[in-house]
Amino acid sequence: MTKSAHLPLPDQDSEELLAQLSRRLQRTLPMAHIKQRLLDGCDGLSLGLINDDFPTGPLPADVMRDVVAEPAYWAFCWGSGLGLAQLLYQHPEWVAGKVVLDLGSGSGVIGIAAARNGASMLIACDNDPDALVATAINARLNNVSLTLLDELNQLQGPVDLILMADVLYDRSNLPLLDAACALAPSVLVADSRIRTSPHPDFKEIRQVAALTTPNLGEFDEFGTVRLFLRGAL
Ligand SMILES: C[S@@+](CC[C@H](N)C(=O)[O-])C[C@H]1O[C@@H](n2cnc3c(N)ncnc32)[C@H](O)[C@@H]1O
Repeated sequence: MTKSAHLPLPDQDSEELLAQLSRRLQRTLPMAHIKQRLLDGCDGLSLGLINDDFPTGPLPADVMRDVVAEPAYWAFCWGSGLGLAQLLYQHPEWVAGKVVLDLGSGSGVIGIAAARNGASMLIACDNDPDALVATAINARLNNVSLTLLDELNQLQGPVDLILMADVLYDRSNLPLLDAACALAPSVLVADSRIRTSPHPDFKEIRQVAALTTPNLGEFDEFGTVRLFLRGAL
């Protein structure tokens, strides 16, 4: 994959784009597929996500091994992503006219919501190549154009606001906060796994309730998404 690329998709219809994502998912989870679904509270935003009745187990040992080795996080819209996307629809002024970077884009939900609410330019970054394809396809399904990055250090040009939803599940990602702060005046983190500010420069500004789509049956405690902000909105 090139380090930075504009949406590289040929002119394909939605069905073929979703089939492309299904084939990627089926490399690790052969009995699942991708279907397009509307997100609650996001005014027509739709994403290609794993089917509701996806297999949860017990899975055959080889499938389990592949799922753990290469988790298809991009096939879900995580609770933090949904909660933040819904807030962007309630507060388009947070992103309108801004260059926005969605860090850890997964399905692309946050960046797509930002673009649909007036962001002047969208950059999506994920270190999983499948997630970048999912972000690109979902952007295409929602008529959003964007630039893709597979590494944050490939960023060129100024960014006004970095959004991160559900990226700190892996505590080894905490240094991304300093990296993000060095690249943009404002950084907004949405996370259902973090209960207190993850960094001295970040303040909690809000809590919202949101669950992962499709529902993963997570513990109730993960149904509260906290927003932490460095800078201003
Ligand atoms: C749990 S998913 C959240 C996806 C999306 N933001 C959402 O809310 O639905 C986390 C995503 O962050 C990506 N990620 C994890 N560490 C990363 C890193 N260091 N740089 C870029 N992306 C990263 C993963 O590949 C995955 O797609």
